[in-house]
Amino acid sequence: MSRGVLLIVGLGPGGPDHRTAAAVRAVMEAEVVVGYGPYVDQCADLLDPAQEVVRGAMGEEGARADEALDRAAAGAVVALVSSGDAGVYGMAARTLARAASLADPPRVDVVPGVTAALAAGALLGAPFADDFAVLSLSDLHLEWPVVERRLLGVASSGIALALYNPRSKARTWQLDRVLALLVQVRGAATAVALVHDAGREAEAIERATLGTIDPEHVTMRTLLVVAGESGRDVGPWLVALREAAPPVDPAPLRAEAST
Ligand SMILES: C[S@@+](CC[C@H](N)C(=O)[O-])C[C@H]1O[C@@H](n2cnc3c(N)ncnc32)[C@H](O)[C@@H]1O
Repeated sequence: MSRGVLLIVGLGPGGPDHRTAAAVRAVMEAEVVVGYGPYVDQCADLLDPAQEVVRGAMGEEGARADEALDRAAAGAVVALVSSGDAGVYGMAARTLARAASLADPPRVDVVPGVTAALAAGALLGAPFADDFAVLSLSDLHLEWPVVERRLLGVASSGIALALYNPRSKARTWQLDRVLALLVQVRGAATAVALVHDAGREAEAIERATLGTIDPEHVTMRTLLVVAGESGRDVGPWLVALREAAPPVDPAPLRAEAST
């Protein structure tokens, strides 16, 4: 049996403008395109009737990964499509883990995409020009205390935050809790931005602070940006100026070093 190949493709955050040339080629050259329905729709302009399209449903990620691997192992050129970058809260990790567990896996390559944080950052200006952290607030695959421990770890560092999966219809208290923690650690005046549907038709930006943000405006189509300690408003833009980070009081560091 001939061997196929599986390409795990990041389609970017929305429209064709943010798709890489490699992602376009991977989808167009595939014999089989596998993906969650809305992601298949996101690349519909690239599809040809001769291609086989396998649309999956939410929550069937494991089955989708297996289907893509099976088809590639059977000799097909397969594109498994994800939004943004497939390696950022997308299909890449679980698919690679499953491939690694196979006795005779097909070749698998990952094609990078523009992740939502970068698309959102560009719309706002350059809020991630200094150090920043990317976190998901979803507790579907990770218990909540772990999400909270990680959030607190990076929040106290003062760097900017890009928060994915911030709130859904079913997950509402989590964002309330995160905002309360961030107000304690960062202060209510800290600038935040809600970037909805970056790169899509419904694209919209809301600016607020940790003290004034309305959680009801945050959905699963929102990337929540929390400015870092070097974040500044310059004209209409939110930017991070590395040189603006407050200096560290050396006394506690000296005390720590001498213990
Ligand atoms: C399961 S994650 C997928 C992330 C994706 N793999 C990426 O790299 O952007 C879904 C979350 O990403 C964020 N997101 C994805 N696309 C977005 C967009 N176009 N605009 C704003 N946020 C987006 C939202 O926070 C959403 O809840």
